[in-house]
Amino acid sequence: MSLFVKKNILSLISEADDSEKGLKRTLSGGALIALGIGAIIGAGIFVRTANAAGAHAGSAVTFSFILAAIGCALAGLCYAEFASMIPIAGSAYTYSYATMGEFVAWIIGWDLVLEYALGAATVAIGWSQYLNELCTTVFGFTIPYEWCHSPFQISDAGVRGMINLPAVFILLMLTLLLIRGTRQSAVVNNIIVILKMTIVLLFIALGWQYINPANHTPYLIPATQPDVTLNIIDPITNTNKIHHYSDFWNHGWGGVVAGAGVVFFAFIGFDAVSTAAQEAKNPKRDMPRGILVSLALCTVLYILFSYVLTGLAPFTDFLKQGGEASVSYAVKTYMPASYSWLSTFITAAILFGFSSVILVMLLGQTRVFYSMSKDGLVPAVFSKLHPKHKTPYKSQWLFFAFVSIFAAFIPDSVVGNMTSIGTLFAFVLVCIGVIMMRKSNPEIPRSFKTPMVPFLPILGALICLLMIAGLGIDNWLRLIVWLIIGFAIYFGYSVKHSKARKDALMGNKPAEKV
Ligand code: ALA
Repeated sequence: MSLFVKKNILSLISEADDSEKGLKRTLSGGALIALGIGAIIGAGIFVRTANAAGAHAGSAVTFSFILAAIGCALAGLCYAEFASMIPIAGSAYTYSYATMGEFVAWIIGWDLVLEYALGAATVAIGWSQYLNELCTTVFGFTIPYEWCHSPFQISDAGVRGMINLPAVFILLMLTLLLIRGTRQSAVVNNIIVILKMTIVLLFIALGWQYINPANHTPYLIPATQPDVTLNIIDPITNTNKIHHYSDFWNHGWGGVVAGAGVVFFAFIGFDAVSTAAQEAKNPKRDMPRGILVSLALCTVLYILFSYVLTGLAPFTDFLKQGGEASVSYAVKTYMPASYSWLSTFITAAILFGFSSVILVMLLGQTRVFYSMSKDGLVPAVFSKLHPKHKTPYKSQWLFFAFVSIFAAFIPDSVVGNMTSIGTLFAFVLVCIGVIMMRKSNPEIPRSFKTPMVPFLPILGALICLLMIAGLGIDNWLRLIVWLIIGFAIYFGYSVKHSKARKDALMGNKPAEKV
C-alpha cells in the first residue's frame, strides 16, 4: 500500500460542512483575528526577544524580526490559500493529507506537536517567570528558585532548579477552561487581546525616550565580544555552559539569522487560526483575513518593541540576570523609579496575555489530533467529544500531562527552539504543498490565492530553511529524534488503522491512491 494515499478534498469539504455531528461553528471573523493575535503576542516578544538579542543578534534583533516576518508572511499566504479551500480542523496536517499524501501529513501532524504542545510549554515557563516577578514586586515574596526552574538551570547563588510548578499550574487552569468549550474561551480571549496590545503600545511609547543610543552601537554583535558563562547546566559535563560570541551564529549577520529562528517563535500562532476552521462561521472569507491581518499587525509592533527593549538595556544583560521576565527587568533597571507602576502593570497584564497564547496552543494541539484521530492515525481517544461541551476533553487531559512534563523539567530556551524548528519545518512543507496543489487540483475553488506561485512559496520555503539552519545542530538533532519517534508510531500503529487506507483498499471514494 502506498505511503502517499491521499484524502479526497471534496469529501473533506463535505465533512467540514457536516457540523451537526462534530465541533460547533461559533467563531465570527473578528473572533478569528482575535484568536490569531491572542496566539501570536506572547512569550515570543516578552521572553524570546531578549534571548535572541542576548545570545545571537544584539540590537539587530530588529532585523531578525524582519527576516522572520517575511518567512511567516510567505508561509501565511500559503496557509491562507489552503485555509480558504479546505475549511476543516487540523491546519497544515489536513492540507498536506489532501495534497502530499498520508506519510507527509503524518510528518506534519507529528511536527505540529512541537509547535503547539511545546509552544504551550514555552509560554507556560515564561508565565512562571513573570508570576515570580509579580510576587516579588507586589507581594514581597519570591517563589524559591528550585520550585520554578528546571533541573538544568542553576541560579547565580548556585541553587539548582527541580521543577517548574507555576508553569504546570497555569496549564492545568487553562485545560479546565478549554474543556468547558471554545465559545467561553473566545470571550476571555478578546479581553486579553486588548490588554496585550495596550501593554505593547505603552512600553513602546514610554520606553522610547529612555533609549540609550550607546546600547544600539554597534548595531550588530562584533565577533570579538567576550564569552559568557551561562546559568544552564550541560547535562553531559554537568558544568555551566559557556556562550561563545565568536561562533558563526552568535554574532554579525549569522547572529541575525539565528536570532530570526529564535524570535520566529513570536509569530507562531497565526496558523493556529486555521486549526479552528471547523469552528468558524464563514471560514472561506474569514480564515485568510484572520491569518493575514493578525500577522501584519503584530509585525509592526514587534519591530518597534524590540528596538526599544534593546535600546533600554545592553544586550549582554539578557544572557543572564535580565533574561528572566526581561521586559519588567528592563523597565525596572533602566527607566526612572517613577515607572515602577509600568513594570507592575506590564507584569500583571503579561500573565493574562500569556494565558491566551497557551489557550490557543492547547486548543490547536487537540484539534490537530482530533483530525488525526478521525483519520485513524492516532487512537480514537483523541477524538472523543465531551457529551455536553462537545470538546475533545480526553485529549485535552492527555496533552495537559504531556505539555506539563516539558514545562516542569526543561529550560525555556530548549523547548522554545524546538517549537521554532518544528513549526518552520511544517511551514516548508506547507509552502511546497501549495505549489503541488495548484498542479494536482486546479479545479477546486479558492476564495484566496497565493500570489506569484511558485516564486513566493519557494522563497518562503527557502527563508524558513535558512532559519532552521540558524537554529544550530542541537536543534536539528532534536528534530530528527522527534521525527524518528514519529516514524516508529506511524509504521507501528497508524498504517494499520488509517481510514484512508481502508477506503482505498475497499475501492471507496474518499481516498485516492497515487
Ligand atoms: N507566538 C506565541 C508567543 O510568542 C507563541 O508566545
